[in-house]
Amino acid sequence: MLSLRLLGSCLVMAVLQLASMAADAQSATRPRVRLPSGPVRSVILNHCVSCHGIDDYAFHALDRAGWQQLLDVPHKQQRGVQLEPADEALLLDYLTETFGTESVPFPRNYIAREISEFFNNADARVFLQRTCTECHELRVFEHRKDANGWRALVLDMRERGARLSDQNVEKLVEWLARVRGINPVD
Ligand code: HEC
Ligand code: HEC
Repeated sequence: MLSLRLLGSCLVMAVLQLASMAADAQSATRPRVRLPSGPVRSVILNHCVSCHGIDDYAFHALDRAGWQQLLDVPHKQQRGVQLEPADEALLLDYLTETFGTESVPFPRNYIAREISEFFNNADARVFLQRTCTECHELRVFEHRKDANGWRALVLDMRERGARLSDQNVEKLVEWLARVRGINPVD
């Protein structure tokens, strides 16, 4: 039989977990950017990670001149960040390619709602068919991502016109991370 003490500590843990979920749900959700491979990787590691991480790049969708400005003013001019011209060119190529005007900036104020209903596989497929095939065929099965990665993608689709409530964004993110996550369970 489960002892009262054990039951008590389980309850405390459950309450703590709920409290931390509630706290998470109240603060704005952040994007998740993966460190790129190739030569630009070491440029970023050598020059761009001593003060802040790389996730914030995703808040921007700028052309080359816009990225140049962001490197010039707050970094080179105001904070003495130094970049060799060749490194700067690599960095600008990467930034413009990944976070250029074609991309959709991650919404700064998006708050991940807590959900109490979850998709089963059948309902998720019906929902995807209804919500996601207006513009292109279903493409989620070509990808694997963690919840942050899926959230960024689904929010991107919403900014492009997919019709999704905050609640449905989170239901979809939870399901996608479950069945198309980085560590598959099926
Ligand atoms: C010396 C510290 C420092 C280094 C090194 C640095 N940054 Fe920054 N960065 C900052 C600060 C401080 C801000 C906030 C600037 C402001 O708002 O005026 C910032 C802001 C940014 C932003 C905008 C973030 C947002 O939330 O909108 C981007 C993008 C960025 N940096 C990219 C880079 C890149 C790329 C590099 C590598 C060349 C780099 N940073 C290196 C200090 C640094
Ligand atoms: C209003 C139009 C529209 C809707 C609705 C839409 N998408 Fe997209 N989707 C796009 C556009 C535009 C692109 C980017 C251009 C391209 O690759 O065709 C894209 C690209 C994608 C990609 C490829 C991204 C990549 O990095 O390779 C995936 C995956 C995707 N969409 C999934 C979805 C899912 C899941 C839904 C439903 C939640 C959805 N889309 C609904 C317009 C839409």
